[in-house]
Amino acid sequence: MADDLFNSFMNGPDENGRFGDFGGRFVSETLMPLILDLQAEYDKAKTDETFWAEMDDLWEHYVGRPSPLYHAERMTEELGGAKIYMKRDELNHTGAHKINNVLGQIILARRMGKKRIIAETGAGQHGVATATVCAKFGLKCVVYMGAHDVERQAPNVFRMRLLGAEIVPVTSGRGTLKDAMNDALRDWVTNVRDTFYCIGTVAGPHPYPAMVRDFQAIIGKEVRTQMETAEGRLPDTLVAAIGGGSNAMGLFFPFLDDKSVNIVGVEAGGKGVNEKMEHCASLTGGRPGVLHGNRTYLLQDDDGQILEGFSISAGLDYPGIGPEHAWLHDIGRAQYVSITDVEALAAFQKCCQLEGIIPALEPSHALAHVMKIAPTLPKDHIICMNMCGRGDKDIFTVARALGFEMGEFA
Ligand SMILES: Cc1ncc(COP(=O)(O)O)c(C=O)c1O
Repeated sequence: MADDLFNSFMNGPDENGRFGDFGGRFVSETLMPLILDLQAEYDKAKTDETFWAEMDDLWEHYVGRPSPLYHAERMTEELGGAKIYMKRDELNHTGAHKINNVLGQIILARRMGKKRIIAETGAGQHGVATATVCAKFGLKCVVYMGAHDVERQAPNVFRMRLLGAEIVPVTSGRGTLKDAMNDALRDWVTNVRDTFYCIGTVAGPHPYPAMVRDFQAIIGKEVRTQMETAEGRLPDTLVAAIGGGSNAMGLFFPFLDDKSVNIVGVEAGGKGVNEKMEHCASLTGGRPGVLHGNRTYLLQDDDGQILEGFSISAGLDYPGIGPEHAWLHDIGRAQYVSITDVEALAAFQKCCQLEGIIPALEPSHALAHVMKIAPTLPKDHIICMNMCGRGDKDIFTVARALGFEMGEFA
């Protein structure tokens, strides 16, 4: 299924892990041998049919792929313009797209003989997916999670514990995803021998951004086939939310060569893209710098210190963005916009009411952008948005934002 992903001329990065001026491998000497081992293992796996056969089998029988492509009829009618499709990756086992990538990395870890898996998590979906696959294969799992996220994503913290993972709350910085990733990298340097670092998005040093993208590209590959069946042609516009950018790269990548397809990434605009940086829109409101082993757009102050950023959505609360997105932005192949917390909350509610789907707050950002553009487009324009996670984890956050107290939901 995944075999022809590697023939595209858009198949960056170069041999140094660069997407144009972005990406690369900015790591300490201690980490370099580990990164090179991983790259060698992944290079072997890419063309190994038995690797992809194992992936395809697990995607189908464990994750439940292919996920449906769903025509959101009432949403389309209500907005009165473009025809809206949702790629239902929230129906995957564990409730989000994160498991697509985790399976690939854990199969690599097993091939490399690693017995201890570490991961960082923001919304907890990557942590839950990693804890799940570690339980399935009997591997030790340690998840670094910002203390602030431990609090606001409590249901996922308990899920990870049930699955046997050790959770390490991170109190440095503002206690969010960036801080969790810093501590996970520190752990990896300290435990070089038996540990595999399973990164949850298209960030980190090469080969992670390309490798995670390749595993998530199953999303866009399926959309191509499903759209062909449903409409007999390609979609006109693709829309996806961006934290680090993995669900978006997964949807976008198989369409990069199709110039007729508009590609839109949606960043978290928080309280509005302003000078107080109360948002997480790294492309819209940041500038290039180096973080977590790669060069990309970052929220930073005049001295290059990383700023914390803000979003109601724990999964979008990252002050950087995957380097391939930075490149697609600069060469103009994709457009990047931002959506505020208030707009995302409105889209969240509309989706519940019109489609009977409770979305995660992350794809609610993508949907809010769809709600902005659909009425301005003709009825024969096809939009496909990535419904990359379900909203169970977010109901308490949404309840608070809508002014409910606990126990007052009735
Ligand atoms: C449901 C969901 N969507 C999106 C994201 C953002 O990650 P990415 O941009 O890598 O897809 C997260 C991160 O936790 C998530 O849980």
